[in-house]
Amino acid sequence: MEPNFESLCNEAISLIRQTGNFIREERANHPLTIETKGKNDFVTHIDKGSEERLVKGLKTLLPESGFIAEEATSTEKGERFNWVIDPIDGTTNFIHGLSPFAISVALMDAQEVVIGIVYEMGLDEMFFAWKGSKAYLNGKEISVSSRPTVADSLIATGFPYTQYHRMGDFMKTLDHFMRKSHGLRRLGSAATDLAYVACGRFEGFYEYNLNPWDVAAGAFIVQQAGGKNADFTGGNNYIFGKEIISANPLIFDEFLRDIKLFMEEK
Ligand code: IPD
Ligand code: CA
Ligand code: CA
Ligand code: CA
Repeated sequence: MEPNFESLCNEAISLIRQTGNFIREERANHPLTIETKGKNDFVTHIDKGSEERLVKGLKTLLPESGFIAEEATSTEKGERFNWVIDPIDGTTNFIHGLSPFAISVALMDAQEVVIGIVYEMGLDEMFFAWKGSKAYLNGKEISVSSRPTVADSLIATGFPYTQYHRMGDFMKTLDHFMRKSHGLRRLGSAATDLAYVACGRFEGFYEYNLNPWDVAAGAFIVQQAGGKNADFTGGNNYIFGKEIISANPLIFDEFLRDIKLFMEEK
């Protein structure tokens, strides 16, 4: 039987709220165990505990599903459905006691995202959408902003900590948007950056060297909120392709042209 994506989304939201409570309680009552996966790449026992809870709960909601989960607590793959999970997006913020940080969960039906949920815990904001729906923030409909030019825009990005060979080009984009736009922000959680494009706080977001769990849910919410996503060539390989631009449709072409000036790989 075909799953009902609306009710599955609602059930996943309650699971994510419970997981959020686990994260808060564990953080408040126990010392944090931090491991290093690579340079400036951290994971805490709470990231792993969050992911284990999500995997277990989501498997119960949709028994035939598999997982693409950052901390690889399950690597089981589903034939058709896979949950794409970032148990804490913004771990560096989380370790330092800063907001934002978020739980990000998407459901993929083969190559298509059909549910996206981003729960930003600092402000207790639940962003979500399912296939065929509008996009919502804490139950209220949201949409991307209607600012028409990059010059009128607030732009978000992330600073890479690997892939240094692209750093020179990336620095040029910072210089460019600092001069051209209202300003640039680096929040430290890509899922939150995308959710903020969806609700019109940012006009645009771009980053390279991201993984599917950073972007699958947020980019889908942007799309359902009336925005557009692409890789840096303008193509649609932005979930697995390690680079994304996301924006309201009015600035999208101009924004993509600007990014291409510096970031298109020769
Ligand atoms: C990170 C955040 C950050 C982005 C990094 C990601 P994590 O995710 O999304 O904003 O700049 O590239 O790895 O590791 O905190 O889940
Ligand atoms: Ca990480
Ligand atoms: Ca992440
Ligand atoms: Ca993470």
